[in-house]
Amino acid sequence: MRTVTTVAGLRAACDQARAAGLSVGLVPTMGFLHDGHRSLMQAARRADDFVVVSIFVNPLQFGPQEDLAAYPRDLERDTAVAAAEGVSLLFVPSVAEMYPEPPRTTVHVAGLTEGLCGAARPTHFDGVTTVVAKLFSITGPCRAYFGRKDAQQLAVVTRMALDLDLPVEVVGCPLVREADGVAMSSRNAYLEPADRVAARVLSQALQAAAAAIEAGERDARSLRAGIERAVGAEHRVTLEYVEVRAAADLEPVDELRGPTLLALAARVGRARLIDNITVTFAADGEARIDLGIDAASVVAPGVASPKPLLSESESTCAAG
Ligand code: PAJ
Repeated sequence: MRTVTTVAGLRAACDQARAAGLSVGLVPTMGFLHDGHRSLMQAARRADDFVVVSIFVNPLQFGPQEDLAAYPRDLERDTAVAAAEGVSLLFVPSVAEMYPEPPRTTVHVAGLTEGLCGAARPTHFDGVTTVVAKLFSITGPCRAYFGRKDAQQLAVVTRMALDLDLPVEVVGCPLVREADGVAMSSRNAYLEPADRVAARVLSQALQAAAAAIEAGERDARSLRAGIERAVGAEHRVTLEYVEVRAAADLEPVDELRGPTLLALAARVGRARLIDNITVTFAADGEARIDLGIDAASVVAPGVASPKPLLSESESTCAAG
């Protein structure tokens, strides 16, 4: 595995790979890699010949009161993780390399960025789309892998690529959970032991909502109320939002009919955590619920396919 730190170096390596007939897979990250990131590298390895992982803590997507300075970093360990996953090239630019000057150009995806996490983080998604557009431009034609853990980000980036005719196929991959159900996140590193235990209430509340949906509940308001009640019982956790949205355009829905996202964000200790499940309906109206996959199933490439948490979970990557 090579590590490159310059824009020109990444561009040249990707051009060279394509000239040699190789397909390019890109996995953008902010580092402090965990099994959620590893699952994206594995998906890229399965589909693409030349896999690029970028590690860049993008200042543009952090608000002034947010955790940019504190964001966890460990490049040595990240390098070992990426190498073990068979990554071809690690791109680790400095802030000065990515933004030699404060950018005057911002990519803004209207509508999709306004609710959910966009409400509390009004500048966040412009920072994400601007850096991802740069990464897509530097990498060139490729598949790019994003986790459904960040469902809104996935929807926003997918729409950006579509609207701007970027030569990139955005691929959505399953949300990866710890053994106790907590969604994997670099920010889990912020949690005190008691908060780490308390954080379980988020996935448990979503699981209870999933059970209610399987039992026939279709009313968005009562599903939200159930999640608010469950999370409200855990005094260490403060719910920021719980929303029921159409999966495609993130418009609010009153009644579950088509593909639907149940998403939440909460404060737990110093961390702001997000989690979600996605519901789709079979032709006979039966609900299929994607709860994500267990980290234990994120194994070495080619060894086994991920094990769904529920039988109905989608266990493979799908274009998103
Ligand atoms: P980061 O939080 O490092 O996440 C990088 C990628 O890993 C994202 O696509 C995210 O959805 C995915 N990911 C994180 N936790 C996951 C989990 N538990 N299961 C599955 N996938 C998971 O998201 C970002 O960085 C940045 O916003 C970035 C896209 C790199 C732009 O700066």
